[in-house]
Amino acid sequence: MNPGPGILPAPVMERLQREFLDFKGLGVPWLHMSHRMREYMMVTEALEEDFRAFMKVPDNFKLFLMNGGGSLQFSAIPQNLTGHKYGKGAAANYLMSGAWTYNAGREAAKFCDVNYVNKWTLPEVKDLSVQKTVLDLDNWHINKDAEYFYMCQNETIEGFEYDQALTRKMIDRVRADAPNQVVISDMSSCIGSKDITKHGLMEEGGYDIVFGGAHKNFGTPGLTFMFIRDEVMDRV
Ligand SMILES: Cc1ncc(COP(=O)(O)O)c(C=O)c1O
Repeated sequence: MNPGPGILPAPVMERLQREFLDFKGLGVPWLHMSHRMREYMMVTEALEEDFRAFMKVPDNFKLFLMNGGGSLQFSAIPQNLTGHKYGKGAAANYLMSGAWTYNAGREAAKFCDVNYVNKWTLPEVKDLSVQKTVLDLDNWHINKDAEYFYMCQNETIEGFEYDQALTRKMIDRVRADAPNQVVISDMSSCIGSKDITKHGLMEEGGYDIVFGGAHKNFGTPGLTFMFIRDEVMDRV
């Protein structure tokens, strides 16, 4: 895991530089290419194929690559998943674990009712003895009517991460109370550091949405990846 933007390998940057003015001998700088050009689309298709294979993400997840960094999703998620106007609920469950869930929850509160399942807020959550109560799953307060449950897999600033075995228990805990809740994990700072399919977490009953800013471990700042399970596509 990296606290800031990762470094692209030198051969990648050299190739980008070479192809900056002449992409694959087409005589066109890649910045001037239409996103509908076949050659451009082949790049994104190959990217998707490689990323999917590396992450072992099953075919029943769609991959979206977007602008706006991880932070844009803090408002895009509640805007897409909640809203009475669209026949959806108006609440969301958040597991408060540090600065990034604080930021995400604060943004979501502009669009829906936010319930912190572990009932803590900042700065309490920065205290390690308080943090341990996150593990006290029996005392979580889950809003059963909420549309989704949101967690941050790796709180970059506080510097801790939920491993997959514990994540499995957390998701099972949520689903015991609210079987249809969409489960979302922000993986901005741990993506690529482990096999996310362990403990059946990408199977039915595991994560529904996995997202993150790509810049820490994979790509360039501003690029966001989001995997969404097909079964929840009609809810977003
Ligand atoms: C866990 C986590 N979530 C979200 C973000 C925000 O992502 P971005 O900087 O791409 O907006 C960060 C840090 O950048 C982060 O560490």
